[in-house]
Amino acid sequence: MALLRRRLKLVVTVMMVNLFIFILISRSSSQDKNGGHKVQIPSKPFWTKLGPSPAYWNREQQILDIQNNPILMANLSGAELSGWLNSSSLPSDPCRPNFRVTTQVKDYNSLPGRFKDFLLYMRCRSYPIMVDQPDICKEPPFLLLAIKSLAPHFDRRQAIRQSWGRAGVTANQTVVTIFLLGNATAGDHHPDLSGMLHYESVRHKDIIQWDFRDSFFNLTVKEVLFLDWIQTRCSGARFIFKGDDDVFVNTYRILDFLKGLSEPKARDLFVGDVITNAGPHRDKKVKYFIPESLYVGTYPPYAGGGGYLYSGDIAARLHNASQRVALYPIDDVYTGMCFRKLGLAPEKHKGFRTFNIEEKYRSNPCAYKSLMLVHPRTPQEMIQIWAWLSSPGLICQ
Ligand SMILES: *[C@@H]1O[C@H](CO)[C@@H](O)[C@H](O)[C@H]1NC(C)=O
Ligand SMILES: *[C@@H]1O[C@H](CO)[C@@H](O)[C@H](O)[C@H]1NC(C)=O
Ligand SMILES: *[C@@H]1O[C@H](CO)[C@@H](O)[C@H](O)[C@H]1NC(C)=O
Ligand SMILES: *[C@@H]1O[C@H](CO)[C@@H](O)[C@H](O)[C@H]1NC(C)=O
Ligand SMILES: *[C@@H]1O[C@H](CO)[C@@H](O)[C@H](O)[C@H]1NC(C)=O
Ligand SMILES: *[C@@H]1O[C@H](CO)[C@@H](O)[C@H](O)[C@H]1NC(C)=O
Repeated sequence: MALLRRRLKLVVTVMMVNLFIFILISRSSSQDKNGGHKVQIPSKPFWTKLGPSPAYWNREQQILDIQNNPILMANLSGAELSGWLNSSSLPSDPCRPNFRVTTQVKDYNSLPGRFKDFLLYMRCRSYPIMVDQPDICKEPPFLLLAIKSLAPHFDRRQAIRQSWGRAGVTANQTVVTIFLLGNATAGDHHPDLSGMLHYESVRHKDIIQWDFRDSFFNLTVKEVLFLDWIQTRCSGARFIFKGDDDVFVNTYRILDFLKGLSEPKARDLFVGDVITNAGPHRDKKVKYFIPESLYVGTYPPYAGGGGYLYSGDIAARLHNASQRVALYPIDDVYTGMCFRKLGLAPEKHKGFRTFNIEEKYRSNPCAYKSLMLVHPRTPQEMIQIWAWLSSPGLICQ
């Protein structure tokens, strides 16, 4: 009995000692955490030296980042520069085809033709303007509607003029509408529409056209030329909507929304159907396919190119940022990249329906009352929906 009691005593004592040690250790470690006085000296530099990325766009962007960063620029030795920044064999005119890409992009020869065209002209950002409307913003508009269109889409443009894009005064605010066009070239088997386009532009004075091939991968060129254009021709616009010619825009709702914004909100406005956590498609059959030799990484949040709304102030800042972002073949992703460069993120608004609304609501006039944008709509549908929304008899609860 006595032996058992002594053993029990021993076990209890050992346990007490263990507990005591445990408390000591945990107290001292929690002291360390709470800003103890130990200074940790890193054994290695916290930065890693920048190496050239294997993907072409990423590498072009690294070069721009270095060129725009005086600290990095000053520190690079000639040897490093010659390694991957040396552009002595580039054509001095960025708008001449850059044939170096044919060897710098490892699978260049097996890429679809649109990538070859994009890569050869990726550094070119200036194209001559063929049709301009220099005085269209003489009286700075409250809202500028800028619609990406293609030369043959006469009916879409006309339906927009007769409906949601009617220029002039809407709900007491001035609205200016322009159409952004490139050149529909014979090389892409477009018929020669230049005579008809000339007639249209004289008649409506709302066409802006630049001399570049109007293709899907050149929409980014259209974007940077438009950002230039705003600064030279329409820098007084309070707000800008940029979108496609196959969307319906509820201009009433947009004006109402804009009028209700607070001053700081209005200054930094950029809203649309925002896509987050996206990345390049690697399936060759998808329209948005991007090979790994061109781009690696995810996409920043971006507003779907069907249509988004931003302030004139943001337009000026985007114009600035775009000069520091390498052209990317998908225009709305590119705009998202420029926006991230500004340290900003676009805001999602439920009124932008670039993926349409449920089928059962599509013919209900009241379904459009609170929306800002619906995609896609035909010219006839645009005129129908606009008539619904403009009717004083439309009562929605
Ligand atoms: C930058 O230059 C300084 C002075 O020449 C040098 O000490 C430093 O290591 C350089 N840094 C890099 C990243 O090359
Ligand atoms: C760039 O490369 C050319 C030859 O390819 C060479 O002559 C020149 O010295 C290099 N420039 C720099 C800054 O390294
Ligand atoms: C337009 O302005 C007039 C006069 O300021 C005002 O009476 C009217 O309600 C306004 N209309 C709209 C749609 O805001
Ligand atoms: C635009 O495209 C047309 C048709 O292919 C072509 O004739 C013309 O030279 C191009 N450029 C200009 C400036 O019109
Ligand atoms: C973009 O336009 C330029 C000028 O017309 C043309 O040379 C180039 O091939 C076009 N790029 C694409 C991807 O269509
Ligand atoms: C554009 O950038 C320059 C310098 O890079 C800066 O001085 C200017 O304020 C910027 N403008 C806007 C509108 O951000």
